[in-house]
Amino acid sequence: MNPSVNLSELNARVLAACAELARLTEVPGETTRPYLCPSTRDVHAFLFAWAARLDLSVRVDAVGNLRARREGPRPDAPTLYAGSHIDTVPNAGAFDGVLGVLLAYALAEAVQGQELPFALELLAFSEEEGVRYGVPFIGSRALTGTADAMLGLTDADGLTVADAITQFGLNPDQLPEARVQGQSLGFLEFHIEQGPVLQAAGAAVGVVTAIAGQNRVLLDFTGRASHAGTTPMLHRRDALAAAARFVVAAEDRARHTPGLVATVGVMHARPGAINIVPGDVHCTLDIRHEHDAVRLEKLPLLLADAERFATERGVTLTVTPKMEEPATPMDAGFRALLHRAAEAEGLAHPELVSGAGHDAMVMATVMPAAMLFIRSPNALSHHPDEMVNAEDVEAALRVGVRFVEELAQEVRA
Ligand code: GLV
Ligand code: MN
Ligand code: MN
Repeated sequence: MNPSVNLSELNARVLAACAELARLTEVPGETTRPYLCPSTRDVHAFLFAWAARLDLSVRVDAVGNLRARREGPRPDAPTLYAGSHIDTVPNAGAFDGVLGVLLAYALAEAVQGQELPFALELLAFSEEEGVRYGVPFIGSRALTGTADAMLGLTDADGLTVADAITQFGLNPDQLPEARVQGQSLGFLEFHIEQGPVLQAAGAAVGVVTAIAGQNRVLLDFTGRASHAGTTPMLHRRDALAAAARFVVAAEDRARHTPGLVATVGVMHARPGAINIVPGDVHCTLDIRHEHDAVRLEKLPLLLADAERFATERGVTLTVTPKMEEPATPMDAGFRALLHRAAEAEGLAHPELVSGAGHDAMVMATVMPAAMLFIRSPNALSHHPDEMVNAEDVEAALRVGVRFVEELAQEVRA
């Protein structure tokens, strides 16, 4: 480590930066930063300034990822990637994604001036949450060459991903240049756990073994709007009654299947008046499990439930799959390195599965990927009360510095 760097002071700057970036938002009083919204520019400016202080070269690639790079000792040296995402869910906390980006910057600062046998590229992915386009990981998919298929997706205003890129001043034709080039050593992502496991284990950090697989599906129930006072119950084609049954059935199936989580996070009923039987309902399903076999067994059962509830009411159902990601194991070698680094720092280092999706899932398709989770003391995320303990974040930074130093030794050997 650079001996002039004080990790406690660096950590304090990371936490102050999380608070500062949380104020960059589309909705005053909240942290709401969907993909390529105007406040993304302010986040870029903040990171650009930090990267400039570290003498890193910076570019914004064609999907809006900010990429800060420290070159390796030779043009053909491999690259270690580190980072996370800067988009947020609506009314988010201050740490989901951003903390991982800022810890990557802190890591680069901690090893500044130290010789490394590899290049280091810090990644601030522009889109991970999948809120604006219903499909997550647009940022990391650009690095793996799989974002092209996303360009035609439309948001609630009918703007395509390509439109959003162009409006932001970027060029979707340059997508191929966003792909990782040359040899990759791997990808390291720091992230808050967003759940209760590390808090229950009394551990500041944990090593992720695998990221749960998931499906996201849209369901459209189409019945018939009619008069709430004059349509007898048996003559109704109530789309919302069918959808409501489906929500409860999804909850029941998940409750009775260990490890399964199923969520209906969006439901819009139309026409939406107190005296009209709802004719149309649009809703979403998000279903996840660490074992693909369980998820793939339960998903068709849930969709069959939805079909049955619709048919019983003379309602038709249209199912549109939005995305499917298999469960993704993290790289064994990088995991072992994280364990050794945490051990050397005198920290407990339990293993855990991630229920949340992460860019590491996508990066793992082209290079070794690993995640270090940081305790969520209140087990809360996708909520403004999301929190971290300062000392846990510093522990993660220390583990990260050891990880880089040990990796450097391995590469040199
Ligand atoms: C991302 O936060 C997700 O897992 O939905
Ligand atoms: Mn996240
Ligand atoms: Mn998230």
